[in-house]
Amino acid sequence: MNPEEQIIDLTNRLNQYNFQYYQNSISEVDDFTFDKLLADLTALENQYPEFRQPDSPTARVGGTISKEFKTVYHRFPMLSLGNTYSEEDLIEFDKRVQKGLNGQTYEYICELKFDGVALSLTYENGVLVQGATRGDGVRGDDITNNIRTIRTVPLRIGAGHKATHTQPESAPAVAALPALFEVRGEGFLPLAEFDRINKEREDIGEPLLANPRNAASGTFKQQDSGAVAKRRLDCYLYSFLSDTDIFQTHEESLVAMNAWGFNVSPTWRKCTDIQEVMAYINEWETKRFDLPLGTDGIVIKVNRYDQQRDLGYTAKSPRWAIAFKYKAMAASTELNGIQYQVGRTGAVTPVALLTPVLLAGTIVKRASLHNANEIERLGVMMHDTVFVEKGGEIIPKITGVDLNRRTDKSQPIVYPTTCPACGTALVRKEGEAHFYCPNEQGCPPQRQARFEHFIQRRAMNIESLGEGKIELLIDRGLVQTPADLYDLKATDLLGIEKVFLVEETGKKRVVSFREKTVENILTAIERSKSQPFANVLFGLGIRYVGNTTAEKLVDYFGSMDAIMNATQEQLLAVPDTGPRIAESVVAWFGDTANQEFVERLRAAGLQFVGEKKVVEQEGDSLTGKTFLYTGTFANFSREELESRIEANGGKLLSGISKKLNYLIVGENAGPSKVEKAKKLNVPMIGEDEFMAMLVV
Ligand code: IVH
Repeated sequence: MNPEEQIIDLTNRLNQYNFQYYQNSISEVDDFTFDKLLADLTALENQYPEFRQPDSPTARVGGTISKEFKTVYHRFPMLSLGNTYSEEDLIEFDKRVQKGLNGQTYEYICELKFDGVALSLTYENGVLVQGATRGDGVRGDDITNNIRTIRTVPLRIGAGHKATHTQPESAPAVAALPALFEVRGEGFLPLAEFDRINKEREDIGEPLLANPRNAASGTFKQQDSGAVAKRRLDCYLYSFLSDTDIFQTHEESLVAMNAWGFNVSPTWRKCTDIQEVMAYINEWETKRFDLPLGTDGIVIKVNRYDQQRDLGYTAKSPRWAIAFKYKAMAASTELNGIQYQVGRTGAVTPVALLTPVLLAGTIVKRASLHNANEIERLGVMMHDTVFVEKGGEIIPKITGVDLNRRTDKSQPIVYPTTCPACGTALVRKEGEAHFYCPNEQGCPPQRQARFEHFIQRRAMNIESLGEGKIELLIDRGLVQTPADLYDLKATDLLGIEKVFLVEETGKKRVVSFREKTVENILTAIERSKSQPFANVLFGLGIRYVGNTTAEKLVDYFGSMDAIMNATQEQLLAVPDTGPRIAESVVAWFGDTANQEFVERLRAAGLQFVGEKKVVEQEGDSLTGKTFLYTGTFANFSREELESRIEANGGKLLSGISKKLNYLIVGENAGPSKVEKAKKLNVPMIGEDEFMAMLVV
C-alpha cells in the first residue's frame, strides 16, 4: 500500500473499532493494538499531511489550539421552547394544537429535556464538517475541533453502522442521506465524569466545578481541544434538518439517526394523546435520576412534519412543541449537626447531617455545605429547618432555610477554629474559601488521604492496599509515610486483622492479611517501582499538581532533580503553569520532611527520570514564521528539524496553505507538496537556507 492508501485504511479501521467500542460496547482489538495503530496513523499523517482524512480518528484526542472561535451563521435558526410547569398548561397546549390542526388526528413524541448545551452538527457527503454552539440562535461559535473529541459523534456516516438499540421501525438506507444535512442535540458532561473531575480537583486542591451544565458549557468553549478530549463529553441528538424532505415524521428521523450511528437517547416515546404524555411525565419524574446526565423536564413534539409546518412558529419558538419542566425535587428537614471533614490537602469541608428525608426516591441524610462562606451565605443555624434539593448532581444540596419554622432551638453555627481531627489551629489564606489544617505530617485524615492518593492507579497503582488495608497498616504503626511501604516484608503483614463497623449499613467488615493478599500487595509494591516518573510526581501529592500538570513538568524538566532545583521563574516557563502551581511546587520541595520522603523513594528505586519532550529555547530568529518540510535532510532527522524550528520560535504547520511561510525541501521531496507550494506561491527553501536562518 502507498502512504495514502495506508492512511485511508488505518482511518477506516480505527473508526470502525471506535464505533463498535463507543456505540456497541464491543472491543474488536485490545487497547495496545488500538494505540499502536493510532500512533502509526499519527506518524503517517505528520509525514503526509496532504493525505489526512477529514474523518481522521486522530482528531478525537484533540491537539488544536485556537485563539478565538470563528462565528458561524446557522442555516436554520436555533430556536428555544415555550415552558410549562403544570398539567393545566399542558392541556392548554394540547388544545391549541388540536385547534391549529383543524380536527386532524395527531401524535406526539415525548423526549427528555437534557440539561446541557445545544449543539448543531453539519455533515457534507457524510463527513462531519462543522460543529457549532447555539450562540444567540442566529449565529454561534465554530467549535468543530472540540466536537470531534466526542467519541459518540460519528466523524463520517458510512456503511457498517448499526442501530445502538432497537427502535420500532427500520430506518431508510444510509444511501438516502442528503449531501448536506444538519443534526442537532444536547452536548453534556456525563454525571459520572463530572464527579470524577471534581474528585480529581478536590484531590489536588482546585476549586470544584459548580454543576454539570456549567462544566459542559465551559468545556465546549475551551480553546485547547486536547484539554477538551480529557473530559469525556457526550452528546444526544434529537433533530434532523435538511433542505430536502426525507422523513415524514420526527419519529422516522430519530430511528434513522440512531441507525446511522448517532447517539439518540432511547428514552423517547410516541404518545397518541395528552393522557399518554402525562403518563410519560409521571414515569420519568423519578426515573430520570437513573440517567447518565441531568434532565430538567420533558419535551413534547408533534410527530408529523407537515403538521409541524401547519402549526408554525411564534417569534421565538415553535407552536408544535413545548417543554414541561419538573419542579425542583425539594424537601425540608432538620439540620442536626455538621461533620467537618479534613481532606488530603488539609481543606476542611462541612457536611450537613440531616434528619433522614425522602427525596426523589432516595433517603437523604447528608448534604454538602461546601465551605464556611456557604454557611454564611445561607444564613443557616443549627436545628433550622432547611430545604434540600436534588439537581443533576449526585449529592443533594441545601438551598435555603425555612425561616418561618425557626424556633428558639436554633443556635448559631460556630465554625471550628481548630482541626476536628488533630486539634491544630486552622488557617485560611487570603482569597480562599476553605479553612485548612496546616499540620500536614501529623494530622491523621491528611496522612491517610496521602496514602490513598499515593496508591491510586494513576499514581503508584498499589490498589490492592485499598479498602481499609492502608488504614490498618497506619493504625498498627507499620507505616508512617508512603515511603515506608517499600520496607514492608511478608512477616510484617501476615495475619493482621481488624473488624470494622461500616457506618452506613451498620454491618461489620473484616479486613485481614492472608497469604494470598500479602503476596498480591508485595508484588504490586514491587511493580510500582516501574511506574513512569509522571505517576511518581503526581503521587507525591503536591497541591495543584494533578496528572496533567505532572506530565507537563516531566516533559519539560525530564527528572526529579531538575524539578526539585527549579526556581519559580523556571517553573513558570512550563506550558500552562501559573504562579499558583509554581509557588506550590517550590514550597513543597523546600520542606525538609518532603525532601527526606523524596530521598527515601529514590533509594527504594522509583522512577525519577522521564522523557524530556519540550525543547529549550535556542533563539528567536524564526519567531512568527511557519514551516513545513518534505523529504530527508543531511544534517537533521525529522525530529531534530522539528525541534530546531520550535526551539527558535518557529511554528510547524500540518499542511500547505497560504498561511505557510516556508516549505523546506530535502532529498526525495514529495512531488505533490512541491506542486501545491508552487501553486500557492509558498517560498521553498533548501536545508542550507534553513540553517542560515537559525543564526542571526
Ligand atoms: S428540541 C425548536 N429536544 O432545550 C427547539 N430541545 O429550550 C428545538 N433541549 O435549546 C429543541 N433536550 O438545548 C429539543 N429533547 C430535546 C431537548 C432540547 C434539551 C434544549 C435545547 C434547546 C432548549 C430549548
